[in-house]
Amino acid sequence: MFKKEKTILCIGAGYVGGPTMAVIADKCPEYKVIVADINQERIDGWNSETLPIYEPGLESVVKRARGKNLFFTSDVFAAIKEASIIFVSVNTPTKTFGEGAGKAANLQYWEATARSIVEHSEDDKIVIEKSTLPVRTAEAMHRILQSNDKGLNFDVISNPEFMAEGTAIDDLNTPDRVLIGAMEDESGQIALQRIVDLYSCWVPKERIKTTNVWSSELSKLVANAMLAQRISSINSISAICEKTDANIVDVSEAIGLDSRIGAKFLKAGVGFGGSCFQKDILNLTYLCEYYNLPEVAKYWESVVDINNYQESRFVKRMIRKMFNTVAGKKVTLFGFAFKADTGDTREAPAKYISKMLLEEHAQLAISDPEALENAAKDLDGIEGDYELIKCPYEAAKGAHAIAIITEWNEFKDYDYKKIFDSMEKPAFIFDGRNILDHKKLYEIGFNVYPLGQQALSHLE
Ligand code: NAD
Ligand code: UGA
Repeated sequence: MFKKEKTILCIGAGYVGGPTMAVIADKCPEYKVIVADINQERIDGWNSETLPIYEPGLESVVKRARGKNLFFTSDVFAAIKEASIIFVSVNTPTKTFGEGAGKAANLQYWEATARSIVEHSEDDKIVIEKSTLPVRTAEAMHRILQSNDKGLNFDVISNPEFMAEGTAIDDLNTPDRVLIGAMEDESGQIALQRIVDLYSCWVPKERIKTTNVWSSELSKLVANAMLAQRISSINSISAICEKTDANIVDVSEAIGLDSRIGAKFLKAGVGFGGSCFQKDILNLTYLCEYYNLPEVAKYWESVVDINNYQESRFVKRMIRKMFNTVAGKKVTLFGFAFKADTGDTREAPAKYISKMLLEEHAQLAISDPEALENAAKDLDGIEGDYELIKCPYEAAKGAHAIAIITEWNEFKDYDYKKIFDSMEKPAFIFDGRNILDHKKLYEIGFNVYPLGQQALSHLE
């Protein structure tokens, strides 16, 4: 009942593939959308009542389209045969071995996908890079695909995804822009038009930007590098604020009011996390080194350096303020996810902060509304005394200090008087996200250490 040219497959049912395809299916009922993954557990999750990832608004979109024009399967090969447009949204983590280890993107999953597409295709296809990839990956992709001996033609398109976790559905419903890069030959331009037509189902024309493939691939890495750079810039200034009694929240607002700078992405915190910023900057750095541009590589690497500095600076300040030792003291972390409204903990600052506190022999109690399952996996095998407790009041009972690690809204609404009464004294709060009412906490009796702001302490 669906036309072949309107049958879409996405290989990779992760944080990007799942939500992106659910929105396409929801917005474009004339297209059939199949999402395929080799991970059977993930596919079972997508087909169940409890989706494998937490994302506000996702459940209702999936439930509207699933079984009508949205299907999840682990039969990747059959789906390749069926579709004429194939998005590839597999993971592209930082390489941990061989040349480029610690910086370059590991393209093994990516290449495996390309080879499966060649092997199982019976007709021409458009193959779309949805994953974030080093610039010029499409060249290698095209070479692998065209190496087929069946006389098939494959057009490679770059269509990077700009959604952020926690706001994925809004970002996908009303994107700032959709970027589509294609080869400049006739076949490439025809393929480009088919993808423009797909997004035109719901995205206004002026928000669909088309370029050549290389600009599109590079723009994705640069967008993430620029966003991360803003966070590292403001985080570096938070350190100066703590030395000078300037207030980072005021500084952010004051500079953000300049329309050339803008207010977004200027919240100082414990450091950026997530599966992409660090990976993509390192990937950009590696590309610069590859193209013999060491100065450019160094410039971008410093964004990651400041992020590492911010994470360790936060812990060192905690230790200093708690009389230079946390050994044997219960310390409660509010938040483990890398940001609010997600259960994702990939590259979460919480992981590093927990490790550092455990090395100092603190007893950790970790509370998070959605991330405790992932936290358990992340901390598995790490030595030290820690427990994962969903209830914040239980987690804080008997603690010497609370540290706010994630900017969950609900942390603002807890009963801090009740929490204070159950804690050891003097009781400390280190607000790594500047989300709490510091004056009120001080009046309750807490010694309050906001980030990049003067302390409100009964001790100093
Ligand atoms: P993810 O790890 O959540 O999902 C990737 C999925 O691909 C996994 O479920 C894995 O099982 C599957 N996979 C791997 N190899 C496969 C194969 N050969 N065949 C079928 N399935 C295979 O990753 P993600 O967060 O969705 O990210 C995917 C890509 O999108 C990355 O390149 C990332 O940089 C980029 N990206 C991520 C985000 C984000 O917010 N997470 C946003 C924009 C772009
Ligand atoms: C980021 C980008 O925002 C997306 O556009 C991009 O598509 C995605 O990476 C990707 O390529 O994966 P994401 O990592 O999901 O999205 O989340 P962000 O909202 O960017 O937050 C990243 C980190 O920065 C979080 O730890 C967050 O707490 C922190 N952050 C963000 C700050 O510390 N301050 C801010 O002002 C904003």
